[in-house]
Amino acid sequence: MEFDSLPNPVYEIPFKAKVHCQRCRCHRFAELKSIICTVILFMIFYSAEAYDPLDPFGNVTVKWDIMSWTTDGYVATVTMINFQTFRQIMSPGWTLGWSWAKKEVIWGMVGAQASEQGDCSKFKTNIPHCCLRNPTAVDLLPDAPYNQQYSNCCKGGVLASMAQDPAGAVTAFQITVGLSGTSNKTVKLPKNFTLLGPGPGYTCGPAKIVPSTLFPTPDHRRKTQALMTWNVTCTYSQFMASKNPTCCVSFSSFYSDIITPCPSCSCGCQNKKNCIMSNSSLLKMPGINTPKKDNTPLIQCTHHMCPIRVHWHVKLNYKEYWRVKIAITNFNYRMNYSDWTLVAQHPNLDNLTQVFSFQYKPLLPYQSINDTGMFYGMKFYNDLLMEAGLLGNVQSELLLQKNKETFSFKQGWAFPRKIYFNGDECKFPPPDAYPSLPNNAKVNLVSYFTLFVSMILMILSIC
Ligand SMILES: *[C@@H]1O[C@H](CO)[C@@H](O)[C@H](O)[C@H]1NC(C)=O
Ligand SMILES: *[C@@H]1O[C@H](CO)[C@@H](O)[C@H](O)[C@H]1NC(C)=O
Ligand SMILES: *[C@@H]1O[C@H](CO)[C@@H](O)[C@H](O)[C@H]1NC(C)=O
Ligand SMILES: *[C@@H]1O[C@H](CO)[C@@H](O)[C@H](O)[C@H]1NC(C)=O
Ligand SMILES: *[C@@H]1O[C@H](CO)[C@@H](O)[C@H](O)[C@H]1NC(C)=O
Ligand SMILES: *[C@@H]1O[C@H](CO)[C@@H](O)[C@H](O)[C@H]1NC(C)=O
Ligand SMILES: *[C@@H]1O[C@H](CO)[C@@H](O)[C@H](O)[C@H]1NC(C)=O
Ligand SMILES: *[C@@H]1O[C@H](CO)[C@@H](O)[C@H](O)[C@H]1NC(C)=O
Repeated sequence: MEFDSLPNPVYEIPFKAKVHCQRCRCHRFAELKSIICTVILFMIFYSAEAYDPLDPFGNVTVKWDIMSWTTDGYVATVTMINFQTFRQIMSPGWTLGWSWAKKEVIWGMVGAQASEQGDCSKFKTNIPHCCLRNPTAVDLLPDAPYNQQYSNCCKGGVLASMAQDPAGAVTAFQITVGLSGTSNKTVKLPKNFTLLGPGPGYTCGPAKIVPSTLFPTPDHRRKTQALMTWNVTCTYSQFMASKNPTCCVSFSSFYSDIITPCPSCSCGCQNKKNCIMSNSSLLKMPGINTPKKDNTPLIQCTHHMCPIRVHWHVKLNYKEYWRVKIAITNFNYRMNYSDWTLVAQHPNLDNLTQVFSFQYKPLLPYQSINDTGMFYGMKFYNDLLMEAGLLGNVQSELLLQKNKETFSFKQGWAFPRKIYFNGDECKFPPPDAYPSLPNNAKVNLVSYFTLFVSMILMILSIC
């Protein structure tokens, strides 16, 4: 369908009759149109920017607490909390950057380090840890010497998601800053915060002075207080992280012979020439699986070219229950996904009776609607999704109690509405490709799809 073939509503107003009123209608319509378009475009933009409907409040907050003033600056504790429900920061971990507002230097860091020292040649006796105007900090590795550790530090930059491991979602380091202000009146907040986690995708807001953090003493009978505190909030946008999805979904069911594969080139086919056949002799070469510093994948050649495929199989139908099998397959030869997470949205998840061999946690982004949940592996059993190959998959089965009013095998109802792997939304097959019941209940689905497409086209043609 061409955009041009759709009637443009402006021209539907009869042109000859009632010229005067036509103009005002036109005028009002134009006004209304611009409001509607602004709202729609804002929604599209906003959803592309940072808003995730399954985790509407997710963010990473960085908090600077000034703990003491020094002769030329301050000592601060920097705490980073991953408030995102199901998106972790994977190895090789976070990188936090900022721009100093004045001529500050970093005298020392505990529990993290500046990735580059920069030019400290102006200093004769004491040499700072970092003299860059735009320093970047990275975490230390877990085996850091004891005297360089700080509470909650040294996880190699890995931060768990809040729902999976609240304690693992926090990290902290200490920073000693010089040539800055030495009171809350003279200190200037750093600017331009950036967060890599480990790749792009995060956007950080400006630092904001917030009420000073209170620290209870170990016996909880007294509270001390930071001298000054500021917060920075960073939010994630999958759109900014990568142009293409990083996972795809395929379907099958006991009631149909059709296997609905991932759409071709779900994750973009530009890497196709670098992919590797599963029977390639190169795979026997030692070191082929060694991860690259920037996590560049080595992907098995498939028609979808995704590093991850999630398969949802509707397996069995009982009187009161039904059963689903989920399999997650890794097609990346250079990545073990530790502490992977899978988020699924399906209206029957509120009656999930049993989950075999995965952990499950219901997520309630909108309190009242219990249709979303997070699956993750069991410690030491399947919390590590191994590199591509024979062992590169994890599987589970779900037993769901039929929801009497809504349950149906028709119109693809038994398939999930959304799937996220490690916090990124996976590409779905088009609705008209879903496995259908033998007597073909597909028609309605197709017409829904057509309706949806024509609505989108109409919006595009109006704006
Ligand atoms: C960041 O997330 C926390 C926890 O969900 C929330 O309380 C806070 O309001 C969020 N901050 C912003 C700026 O959205
Ligand atoms: C600042 O960040 C901390 C977490 O690091 C959070 O508990 C606090 O609510 C934040 N304050 C504001 C005003 O956002
Ligand atoms: C700075 O400290 C003074 C007292 O030491 C306090 O009254 C004032 O509110 C503080 N200002 C800021 C911005 O924290
Ligand atoms: C912060 O970033 C903006 C845009 O990238 C730049 O114009 C500005 O100079 C930067 N500020 C500092 C203090 O580096
Ligand atoms: C790998 O398999 C493909 C077909 O799947 C075949 O054409 C090719 O010859 C095989 N290569 C090797 C090295 O076995
Ligand atoms: C994945 O883990 C296994 C076992 O711990 C290890 O032998 C392999 O080298 C790892 N692969 C990658 C890509 O890190
Ligand atoms: C949501 O559904 C799960 C699984 O059926 C159930 O265990 C949990 O109690 C439900 N939570 C709420 C708030 O309804
Ligand atoms: C399914 O879950 C909802 C909400 O948790 C509950 O009200 C309903 O009774 C359950 N249905 C069945 C058949 O168990």
